[in-house]
Amino acid sequence: MQGQDKPHILSPSRQDLWRFTESHIWTFDTNHADPDPALSILRTLLDQPRWLEAHLLYDERGSQLFEQICELPEYYLTRTENSIIAEQAGQMIAAAPVECIVELGAGTSKKTMHLLREQVRQREGGTFAPIDVSLTGLIVSRDILRQQFPQLKFQGLHARYEEGISSIEKDLPTLFAFLGSTVGNFTHSEFVRFFRHLSDSMGPKDFLLLGADRVKEVEVLEKAYNDSRGVTADFILNVFQNINRQLGSDFDLRKMRYYSWYNPEWQQVEMYAISTATQEIHFPTLSISFVWEKEDRILVEISRKFEPTRLQQQLQCFGLKPVAHFTDPKEWFSLLLSKKS
Ligand code: AVJ
Repeated sequence: MQGQDKPHILSPSRQDLWRFTESHIWTFDTNHADPDPALSILRTLLDQPRWLEAHLLYDERGSQLFEQICELPEYYLTRTENSIIAEQAGQMIAAAPVECIVELGAGTSKKTMHLLREQVRQREGGTFAPIDVSLTGLIVSRDILRQQFPQLKFQGLHARYEEGISSIEKDLPTLFAFLGSTVGNFTHSEFVRFFRHLSDSMGPKDFLLLGADRVKEVEVLEKAYNDSRGVTADFILNVFQNINRQLGSDFDLRKMRYYSWYNPEWQQVEMYAISTATQEIHFPTLSISFVWEKEDRILVEISRKFEPTRLQQQLQCFGLKPVAHFTDPKEWFSLLLSKKS
């Protein structure tokens, strides 16, 4: 069978943790993944405020709904970031002389195609390794890539990005692309953990291209997360369907509504599910339940907004030195290129 050789972007000592899934796609061994997702989920649901980790939003249906969000007129992020990359990909790639591009949380990698086009034009080839928990997204980007850029090697890693990052060979000059302002989902402690881990896994010839949504007018921000068609509400509430399916719990989706607002002090959009009737939620595998009171909220997702100079300073604290800053004419979105130092 084709595409079965172990991906060369993986460091030899970590290769045994990956198993072949289908042509050019590898899956991280679940024996090394979260041993008890039920406990992880319950832990955050018992916090005050109750909250959930963002990755839970991206089951197959959640990933599809997110693709729909990206097309919404109110959701300017994807369009704006895409236009910045489309126009400035040449400079981005010229400033980062690498052999390999790793994309974290790639989806279908539409925006990354501009970078790959430039990589092929300027260096005639290399490797593209997207990391994603959605197998469907990896398959789509593999098939597009093979057609459009046969000069590039494709090595898809089906995993959470933390799992992918620590397996990548340090000596290979690599550009890590972390786009879409996914960084905005991190809590303060997740932010520190993520960048410490990423920086530790990067070699001296590696770069990071980070996409970050910027602080702007409140009205623009709030509309982007409360669209008129209710797609965002479906996306946020779908997390409970995913949890019910994974854990056998009994969240009642008919007894909840979506609420979001921009918290100016924390510079973040907060997306909540509010219970419209008191309900008891059971977790059969743990024999634990809790009462979700009427009008109480669960913080399902945060989307932090950034000031680029401050974000650059924060990255420097993790040994990531600023190289270049790309933005759009309205200065709504930024792409920060940094180098490991
Ligand atoms: C994928 C994290 C960038 O925060 O804008 C969109 C997710 N949630 N609408 C964002 C999201 C609701 C999105 N990110």
